[in-house]
Amino acid sequence: MEIISNSSENTKKIAREFSKKLNPGSILAFYGNLGAGKTTFIQGLAEGLGYKGRVFSPTFIFVRPYKISEQKAESGQHKSAIKTLYHIDLYRIEKATDLKTIGIQEFLEDKEAISAIEWAEKIDKFLPKNAMKIMITPLSPTERKITIT
Ligand SMILES: Nc1ncnc2c1ncn2[C@@H]1O[C@H](COP(=O)(O)OP(=O)(O)O)[C@@H](O)[C@H]1O
Ligand SMILES: [Mg+2]
Repeated sequence: MEIISNSSENTKKIAREFSKKLNPGSILAFYGNLGAGKTTFIQGLAEGLGYKGRVFSPTFIFVRPYKISEQKAESGQHKSAIKTLYHIDLYRIEKATDLKTIGIQEFLEDKEAISAIEWAEKIDKFLPKNAMKIMITPLSPTERKITIT
């Protein structure tokens, strides 16, 4: 699937709609350079899942868990079973030998959570086969090509 976004608000809207199709346990691997819009997309994802707080870039903190409140989640078939969105940013990870060493295996195995991973290329070979890949490519200062496979 390929979508063109023409603003950061548009990217969040695309992400909110995308969030409704997600099942608990989904792993989302994000690719795209600094400033491409990975965090912006994940902000929309959190909104779509019903998270009401602010979503920051976890670049320094590395993993931020967002608790999804069931009653606040928008209606959706699988939504109530999603309890947490893990926002993981691997920007500062040098090179991963395995998922356990960097401490994210438990998040990826959480069947009641969605894991959204920025700079997923750093752990490409450890990602489960069913991980969804979301590539964001800037086309202009305000346009992005979002490719989901
Ligand atoms: N169509 C768009 N989609 C997403 N972000 C956009 C878009 N157009 C402009 N931007 C800007 O690009 C930047 C993306 O930043 P961010 O989401 O933190 O990127 P990343 O996490 O990939 O480094 C923001 O400043 C945002 O306002
Ligand atoms: Mg980011």
